Amino acid sequence: MSQELKSVEYGLEKIFEGAQDFLPLLGTDYVELYVGNAKQAAHFYKTAFGFQSLAYAGLETGVKDRASYVLKQDKIRLVLTTALRSDSPIGEHVKKHGDGVKVIALWVEDARSAYAETTKRGAKSFFEPIVEKDENGEVVRSGIYGAYGETVFVFTERKNYNGVFLPGYVEWKSDYNPAPVGLKFIDHMVGNTDWNRMNEAVKWFEDVMGFVNFLSFDDKQITTEYSALMSKVMSNGNGRIKFPINEPAEGKKRSQIEEYIDFYEGEGVQHIAVATDDIIKTVADMRSRGVEFLSTPPQAYYDAIPDRLKEHMSKFKEDIKELQKLGIMIDADEEGYLLQIFTKPVEDRPTVFFEIIQRMGARGFGAGNFKALFESIEREQEKRGTL
Ligand code: FE2
Repeated sequence: MSQELKSVEYGLEKIFEGAQDFLPLLGTDYVELYVGNAKQAAHFYKTAFGFQSLAYAGLETGVKDRASYVLKQDKIRLVLTTALRSDSPIGEHVKKHGDGVKVIALWVEDARSAYAETTKRGAKSFFEPIVEKDENGEVVRSGIYGAYGETVFVFTERKNYNGVFLPGYVEWKSDYNPAPVGLKFIDHMVGNTDWNRMNEAVKWFEDVMGFVNFLSFDDKQITTEYSALMSKVMSNGNGRIKFPINEPAEGKKRSQIEEYIDFYEGEGVQHIAVATDDIIKTVADMRSRGVEFLSTPPQAYYDAIPDRLKEHMSKFKEDIKELQKLGIMIDADEEGYLLQIFTKPVEDRPTVFFEIIQRMGARGFGAGNFKALFESIEREQEKRGTL
């Protein structure tokens, strides 16, 4: 398993100056969501997002308090966990936040050292290093609370393990196996923080994780007629792991970040951006499977592209009309361009959503699309009465 992850092309291998190497991260190991009904959520992610059944733990495997379904698509592993009884921290989490990301698991060479180095620098312990074993070897894991809300980081060391996922899980064989849609790996995961909390979270990533702030957007850059937000992007040293952090800013109406904080009842992961190398095919496929995306930007957005991105137009391999048909947005910088689109929230609370991104050299986050994107979000907020 680790061999496979090692071969990932992350598209970004530069060592950022200033980043520290006390916490070498090899990649994202898995993302665990606590959900109200893991069985049904797993069906949704298989049917709509093309994830494949990988592993399972629950009553049948001797786990008494929870059920977890592990899904895989290329290098992405999602774990969907639900409580089996009310008196459970998982149940409490779902009661407060609805379905949401609880664990961001980071793949490390040494989970004991990752724990020692981060707790020494001020991280609060989630759990001390534990060794879990089965007939396929052993995995060492440790956990710390993160920079925002109740989201935690778990360090996973799996060099001595060749089982399907983790000890305690069995292979999940299903007769229902919809095809993948071409999602490859997690490009970045964005967190929403409360008013005036972004810089504290940034400092946490710098101090505890040795990350660097490599891009910042202020409320002048991320603004529409009605609302605004601020964002800073944190990256680890090899650029594989990126965590942008948002906070709301004052505007005439309510920022989407405030809406998130209200409905999530706190800070947490706002979106998971997943990479594809053929966004047109991926998005067409996801649409046909019922995934709802934010409304397509208006005609004016597409009409303005040749002017806005004039020095980059010759690089584009995709037809703008084709992008418009699917609602895909485009942005470019000196290094290349990127294509992106955002789903609507994937649960009834207007909280967590996904981004589909195809990078064609660009390392940014689509700043040129922020206005169009946030106007589409505001159209949705308007319908919800939360703008
Ligand atoms: Fe994003």
